[in-house]
Amino acid sequence: MNKNVVKTVVFPVAGRGTRFLPATKASPKEMLPIVDKPLIQYAVEEALEAGADTLVFITGSSKRAIEDHFDTNSELEAMLQAQGKKELLDTLRGILPAWATCVYIRQSAPLGLGHAVLCARPVVGEAPFMVHLADDLIDAEVPCLKQMVEVHRNHGGSVLGVQTVPAQDTDKYGIVSLARGATGRVGRISHIVEKPRPREAPSNLAVVGRYLLSGSIFDDLSQIGAGAGGEIQLTDGIARLMQREPVYAFEFEGKRYDCGSKLGYLQATVEYGLRHTSLGADFAEYLKAFVATL
Ligand code: UTP
Repeated sequence: MNKNVVKTVVFPVAGRGTRFLPATKASPKEMLPIVDKPLIQYAVEEALEAGADTLVFITGSSKRAIEDHFDTNSELEAMLQAQGKKELLDTLRGILPAWATCVYIRQSAPLGLGHAVLCARPVVGEAPFMVHLADDLIDAEVPCLKQMVEVHRNHGGSVLGVQTVPAQDTDKYGIVSLARGATGRVGRISHIVEKPRPREAPSNLAVVGRYLLSGSIFDDLSQIGAGAGGEIQLTDGIARLMQREPVYAFEFEGKRYDCGSKLGYLQATVEYGLRHTSLGADFAEYLKAFVATL
């Protein structure tokens, strides 16, 4: 595996987003905005900052809005130009740099995250690549994927972004345990299991939506069948990969918001709103006054 080049990122966006229905009936979960940017745009910005230049979206039904978001809208641009709204025009034109390439692959049916990642094989080939789940929004001084590329440079192998979660929540995540003697933020994974019940979980160290994977995982994903919940699980592919190659858990620095859940989404909205350059001060004032009435 070439240790220094990770140019491709995969965004699996073909899930059904049932926890957000009816909002996600006709529009993808990844287009939900946090203040004024959709989740998928935060995701793309993070990947570009980590060095990616090829963006592979695994799409499903009702996902057209994502393609439109990263495409030019000449009519809208012409209108803003005519109205002299230069700042807005620059914002639109800055959504995606010209050097980035978008590739859209349709997942025929939502058969699971592992299956979605496998759909990227024809584009990724054998090189290491990143996987980013846009509904896990991570606010960090150094973008999370960039931190992971650095770990990959130093250690090689595959790298999974992990976080400690409450013991009662292990059945929502892939859970890892580390090889003996692991200290610090990076540890080699000895065991990984998808959504274990709390009393069967080997730890409460959970994989959240960031992965840097060896291209050889495609062999594993093509050979596993349905796992937890009847879906082809990325976790099961990783469990196979680990038998041949090192896979590291990395406790990244940053705060994660689970925007696939309504509560996490609201938390992110409030905190990003408070930090927003033009809106933050007014929003803070409103919020203080409102909280005082509770
Ligand atoms: P989730 O477990 O969050 O599922 O998928 P979901 O369908 O998006 O949302 P809920 O649980 O029904 O509310 C994790 C990630 O994997 C993608 C999703 O788009 C999400 O980014 N995914 C999942 C696929 O791309 N394809 C699949 O078949 C399943």
